[in-house]
Amino acid sequence: MGKGTVYSAIQPSGNLTIGNYVGSIRNWLTMQAEYDCFFAMANMHAITVRQEPAELRRRTLELAALYIACGIDPEKCTLYVQSQVPQHAELAWVLNTVTYVGEMERMTQFKDKSQKHADNINMGLMDYPVLMAADILLYQAEFVPVGQDQTQHVEITRDIAVRFNNRFGETFTVPKALILKQGAKIASLQEPTKKMSKSDENPNASVYLTDDRETIMRKFKRAVTDSGNEIRFAPDEKPGVSNLLTIYASFTGKTAEEAEKEFAGKGYGEFKLAVGEAVADKLAPVQAEQARILRDKAYLGGVLASGAERAYKTARKTLSKVYRKIGFYQGE
Ligand code: TYM
Repeated sequence: MGKGTVYSAIQPSGNLTIGNYVGSIRNWLTMQAEYDCFFAMANMHAITVRQEPAELRRRTLELAALYIACGIDPEKCTLYVQSQVPQHAELAWVLNTVTYVGEMERMTQFKDKSQKHADNINMGLMDYPVLMAADILLYQAEFVPVGQDQTQHVEITRDIAVRFNNRFGETFTVPKALILKQGAKIASLQEPTKKMSKSDENPNASVYLTDDRETIMRKFKRAVTDSGNEIRFAPDEKPGVSNLLTIYASFTGKTAEEAEKEFAGKGYGEFKLAVGEAVADKLAPVQAEQARILRDKAYLGGVLASGAERAYKTARKTLSKVYRKIGFYQGE
């Protein structure tokens, strides 16, 4: 029996935060030995909000280098750029015809982004989940490791897959979201009931994977906690402190309970410094490795070319099956 398949992606838009790392990449690392993994740079999703073309191209490569620097092994996994595999757009078109406008209008992310980009509510923004469904279904993925904010999109992917299978016969594997118990939703350092986001306007709210030690320490020193003095994991009562405990635990490989014990009786100031140091210690070698990989253009280009080729082979097989099922002429 073959290995199961895992699919996930990140948009090369904006600066990646430690939320992206903790909620997704860190989760991927544990899967690469056991599964057939496909990890993409979702540049087709990124253009649903305005992007500066040169920057988009640069960020796409930076994201690829980051995956590798974090420990994703391109020999074991398929790393590729979404737009280099044309079947994503082709399958999305077909899936559009089994998806209802009302379903897309109800998506939380669509509603949020429509508010944020009120001058650019384009069709792509609304169709975003269908393209994501195409990504996942093309590779017949069983598992989709993502942060909590993407669960609704994986749910709609399941609905679309089931609906297609019912109408045209068994075609797609129905995927499941894999959400970590710890770290599925890293919160903003300034408003700890909100998600930490790449696009937050307050630069102190998010720690970016590109931040240097000094910046990281400054952001953690300024992190919002509460008026108490107890370092305790209680997300509803103490969202700021609990978020810091989660970050510390995720970056040191401990559980939040272990972290809580470690800081029992200590002050908030000392605690914040320790969290900042744990993050900075982990990121420094990743940043150095990412820079090294980016300088090696031939290597990175080679990884992405062979990734696109591998992805294309699987994607073509699925799309051809879909075309057969729906009655598209494919030549004699
Ligand atoms: P994106 O690029 O917004 O985020 C990438 C991943 O990071 C997770 N994440 C977080 N996890 C924990 N705490 C946070 N504060 C936090 N912020 C972000 C996200 O849940 C995600 O897993 N639509 C996707 C990209 C995508 C995709 C796919 C994912 C395109 N096609 C197919 C899975 C399968 C997105 O915008 O993620």
